[in-house]
Amino acid sequence: MKCRVCREPAVIDIRRHNANFCSEHFLRLCRDQVARAIKDFEMFEPGARLLVAVSGGKDSLAVWDILRELGYDADGLYIGLGIGEYSDESGRTTRAFAEQRGWPLQIIDLREAYDYDVPTAAKVTKRVPCSACGLSKRHLFDQAAVEGGYDAVVTGHNLDDEAAVLFGNTLRWQTDYLARQLPVLPARSGFPRKVKPLVRLGEREMVAYCVLRGIDYIVEECPMAAGNKHLGYKEALNAIEAQSPGSKQAFYFGFLDRAQAHFAAAAPTAERSDAVELTTCSSCGGPSSGEICAFCFLVRRTAGAQPVALTVKGSS
Ligand code: AMP
Ligand code: FES
Ligand code: ZN
Ligand code: ZN
Repeated sequence: MKCRVCREPAVIDIRRHNANFCSEHFLRLCRDQVARAIKDFEMFEPGARLLVAVSGGKDSLAVWDILRELGYDADGLYIGLGIGEYSDESGRTTRAFAEQRGWPLQIIDLREAYDYDVPTAAKVTKRVPCSACGLSKRHLFDQAAVEGGYDAVVTGHNLDDEAAVLFGNTLRWQTDYLARQLPVLPARSGFPRKVKPLVRLGEREMVAYCVLRGIDYIVEECPMAAGNKHLGYKEALNAIEAQSPGSKQAFYFGFLDRAQAHFAAAAPTAERSDAVELTTCSSCGGPSSGEICAFCFLVRRTAGAQPVALTVKGSS
């Protein structure tokens, strides 16, 4: 197995590109793919100030590393979700990563700052944990980016993530979600710009990137997500990809090139991301569709609730 670029021994094969790479040229490929996504989707300009949402997982640590390598001014933001040992470990990993490099990292702990955590919020709202978790993360990313004057919020969603979300949205023909599924969402009425620079790179490549760069990341996935639909879609797509390399990329980029605009054009105005009427939340001052925003409503609902011990699906 030889590197496609220099013919030296390769360390990784990428079947969808039908090519092998040595360490140096693989790392260059990753940076080039991120640079290309930034350019193709007009994510941000060279002087942009970026806020990278970092979870301690491979993708978000890698995207922060790549953006810094590419010369961007990128700071980190970590949210402590209070999901037992998983959150403790992810917090330690993220802090260590930032400290070793001397990169600015803002930390918001839900329990300390808002007196709730994800397992408690899930119990109080009687919804799946990912629902309160997603709402909290989105709100805190948005607020931190707007208050900090950042040009965009960066997340570590990769090609496998985006293809799995697209698969789920397509299986159920969730046309409102399809109308909004893009690797870049522009800023609008109180919300910051949001970008996903890893959409041209897959999960396996991000693992290899971290190993080759010596990035210590948390390998465990969130225990509350075990067995959810999203992971099932990923497995299904992996089975298809194994039979037919390049399917995931063709599925996702084919959607962006040839289908997404149709869903966006056909979406009723109420479903278009730029058309929702918003006011200001009377509690936090952020954008809201009602008197107080969904996040502040969650904070009120969870106030005083007895913290619950973590229950993991599948364990007894
Ligand atoms: P997930 O929703 O866990 O698949 O994560 C998607 C992206 O959201 C990650 O790549 C990160 O950019 C971001 N993210 C997830 N969890 C956190 C967290 N606890 N703190 C900050 N960012 C996070
Ligand atoms: Fe949000 Fe698991 S990361 S519930
Ligand atoms: Zn090479
Ligand atoms: Zn609010």
